Amino acid sequence: MQLDKKDLEKQAWEALEKSILHYKGNPVGTLAAYDVSVEALNYDQCFVRDFVSSALLFLIKDKTDIVRNFLEVTLKLQPKERQLDTCKPGRGLIPASFKVVLDQGQEYLEADFGEHAIARVTPVDSCLWWLLLLRAYIVAKKDFSLAYQPEFQEGIRLIMELCLVTRFDMYPTLLVPDGACMIDRRMGISGHPLEIQVLFYAALRAARELLICRGNEDIVEAIDHRLPLLCTHIRQHYWIDIHRLNTIYRFKSEEYGKDAVNLFNIYANSLPYDQLDKWLPKKGGYLGGNLGPSQLDSRFFSLGNLMAVISDLASVEQSQAIMTLIEERWEDLVGDMPMKISFPALENEEYRIVTGCDPKNIPWSYHNGGSWPVLMWMLVAASVKTKKIDLGKRAIEIAQARLCEDKWPEYYDGKKGRLIGKQARTYQTWTIAGFLLAKELLQNPSHLPLICF
Ligand code: GLC
Repeated sequence: MQLDKKDLEKQAWEALEKSILHYKGNPVGTLAAYDVSVEALNYDQCFVRDFVSSALLFLIKDKTDIVRNFLEVTLKLQPKERQLDTCKPGRGLIPASFKVVLDQGQEYLEADFGEHAIARVTPVDSCLWWLLLLRAYIVAKKDFSLAYQPEFQEGIRLIMELCLVTRFDMYPTLLVPDGACMIDRRMGISGHPLEIQVLFYAALRAARELLICRGNEDIVEAIDHRLPLLCTHIRQHYWIDIHRLNTIYRFKSEEYGKDAVNLFNIYANSLPYDQLDKWLPKKGGYLGGNLGPSQLDSRFFSLGNLMAVISDLASVEQSQAIMTLIEERWEDLVGDMPMKISFPALENEEYRIVTGCDPKNIPWSYHNGGSWPVLMWMLVAASVKTKKIDLGKRAIEIAQARLCEDKWPEYYDGKKGRLIGKQARTYQTWTIAGFLLAKELLQNPSHLPLICF
C-alpha cells in the first residue's frame, strides 16, 4: 500500500527519532541503523559521516542541541598528543564512529578509529565532515562562539596540521589509503580519490572561516596557499569530457621536465576510451575518480562530483556540465533509485583484482555500482544550486515511491537499482535522514548556505 506524502514523512521522522543515541541523558548522535531484526554488528554506533545527514536536518528543524553535543563529544575523542613511534590514531583524527558503553553503572564513550572496522581502514573523511558540520552549526546559529572556544580552535588546528604539514607527496591533493571514506573497503580508491579531495577542499574553506588568525598565522597562510593550487589541480586534471578525452587520447607519454603536457604520464590505452566515447554526452562532463602516476580513474563517483558542485570546487561551467551529464545519463546514474555510488561497476578480472574478490562488492552491488539513497540529498542540493530543480524533484519522486515500503534500506543493487541490497540493513538512518533532508532542501533553498559557501 502506498502511503500519502504526509504519512510517509511522519513515518520517516518516527524512524529517525528511534535512532537517536543518548549519553548521560543527552542526545549525542544517531545510530547507523535501528533494525531490531538483525544482529547489530557495528551498526549500533554513531558514524560521523552518517550523522551529517541527520545533523543537517536537525539544524534545519532548529533541533541544534544534538548537533552541538555531537560536536563536543567527538572533539573530546580526538587524540591531542603527538605520537612518535606508535600505532595509535594520529593526532587530530576524528573517529569513524563511537558508541556508548556501560561499565559498572557508568556510561562512557568508546571511539573507533578503524581498529574495530573491517580491514582496519583509516577514517580520513571523518575530520573533514566534522569541520563541515561545525561550520553548518555556526551558520544555523548565526553565532561563532562555539567555534571560538579554545578547545574547538585547537581541534580545528590539529585537523589542519594533520592534513597540511608533513607528508610524502608532491601533489596539492591529499594522499590516503584505500577505503578512507564512505567507500570503506578495497575498491581501488587509494591515492588521491575524488571524494577525499572534495571534502578536503570544503574543509579547508570551513577552517579558513572558523580559525581565529591570531596564533594560527602559519596555518592560515598554508590554507591560503593550498586552496587555489588544489582547486586548479582538480579542475584541470580530474576533468573528463569529450574534449578532454580527445586530448588524452592523443597524449604523448614519457615526457620529462617542466614542458611536459601529459603531466601524470597517462597512457591513453589505460582508459576505456571506446566506452567513454559513446557514453559522454556532447555537453556533459565530470570529475574523474582518482589521479596519480599514470593513472586517471574514469569511473564516475557521485559523492565527489555532487559535493564538488555544492562546494564550488567545480567551476560554474563544470557544475552545469556535471548536472547535464546526470540528466543525459539518468538511466545509468539514477535509474530506479537515486543514486549510483559509482559507475560503471568493476567486472570480471578487474573486479577480482581490484576488490580482491570482495563478495559484498560484486558487480552492481554495494560500493561497486550499487545505489545509495543517502546520496539523494546531495543530488537535490546540487540541482537547486545549479538551478536544475527538476532533476532533484524527479529523484525524490522516484525514491518516495519505494523507500518506506522497502523499510529504508541502506543500498540497492542491480544496474537500475531495482533490487534491495543483498546485505542491506533496513531502517538505515542516513537513508531516512537523507530523504527528509532532500525534501527540505528542495522546498526551501534558503537552507543551502548550511553546506554551500
Ligand atoms: C558502511 C558504509 C559506510 C558507512 C557505514 C555505516 O560501512 O560503507 O560508508 O558509514 O556502513 O552506515
